[in-house]
Amino acid sequence: QYDRAIRPLSLTEYIGQPVVRDQMSLFIEAAKQREEALDHTLIFGPPGLGKTTLANIIASEMGGSLKSTSGPVLERAGDLAALLTNLNSGDVLFIDEIHRLPPVVEEILYPAMEDFQLDIMIGEGPAARSIKLDLPPFTLVGATTRAGMLTNPLRDRFGIVQRLEFYSHPDLTQIVERSATIMQVPIVPEGAFEIARRARGTPRIANRLLRRVRDFAQVRGTGEITLQIADQALNMLDVDQHGFDHQDRRLLLAMIEKFDGGPVGIDSLAAAISEERHTIEDVLEPFLIQQGYIMRTPRGRMVTRHAYLHFGLPTPKNIYNPE
Ligand code: ADE
Repeated sequence: QYDRAIRPLSLTEYIGQPVVRDQMSLFIEAAKQREEALDHTLIFGPPGLGKTTLANIIASEMGGSLKSTSGPVLERAGDLAALLTNLNSGDVLFIDEIHRLPPVVEEILYPAMEDFQLDIMIGEGPAARSIKLDLPPFTLVGATTRAGMLTNPLRDRFGIVQRLEFYSHPDLTQIVERSATIMQVPIVPEGAFEIARRARGTPRIANRLLRRVRDFAQVRGTGEITLQIADQALNMLDVDQHGFDHQDRRLLLAMIEKFDGGPVGIDSLAAAISEERHTIEDVLEPFLIQQGYIMRTPRGRMVTRHAYLHFGLPTPKNIYNPE
């Protein structure tokens, strides 16, 4: 699959996130010089910004292999114990959605992270016994959409915490151009910029749009992605001039039309647009907040005047005005 080829495999290939890249590059070099495992690393940020990619890069830069799992998959202590006892020195254990680890699993993670010790109960009742095993030095890389969802003891055990930000248009343009080269799709710089500009600051979305624009260019054009082809394809895909998709617009319009612009509680909003509360919190609203279309207040979410302007609606007189 192309997906694998498109993911950068080293920090030098990694575009954007300059703060994360510089820090990780330094911490990795230092750990390698000392011939130690890299400190446990927590990566947080909205979906699609490259948390998994970064975990892969850490493993390959450290010369270890990556074992992947996710919070909800690890139901019992034994599930995690099986993974931990399979690690070699310098390996990376990647736990996606680490905020969804059950408490019984989280508990055995603490001594594993702190002392490379596995401390587990086997059996039940009078026959139950606790066994302790030494683990090889390894690096836990945890990923989560929201750092606030982690328990304090878990968060405290990560020596490195990185927050991924939405990508700038120039960085995303570079990512689109790199992916197009790998996919051998001809693209002009204006075409790459148009896709980047309308990709919600998110490489995963940019790469998905690139594939769909390529389809459009192939069938309706000459195969080359020009500005005009990109624009027509994105319009067909219902991605508007700000990169908002159908769901974004539905959320904003519901806030305006059903709740007079807010404030509205997250659960009322979720019910109004028949969407999961977590999808709104993790996927939809982070970008709309970052772009200044929605605000979170103690009384609930409110739209800003930018949301009214976006739909060509008159702004109410007493709307919050950030300027
Ligand atoms: N593909 C997805 N994310 C990327 C990044 N940050 N750099 C390069 N290619 C990418």
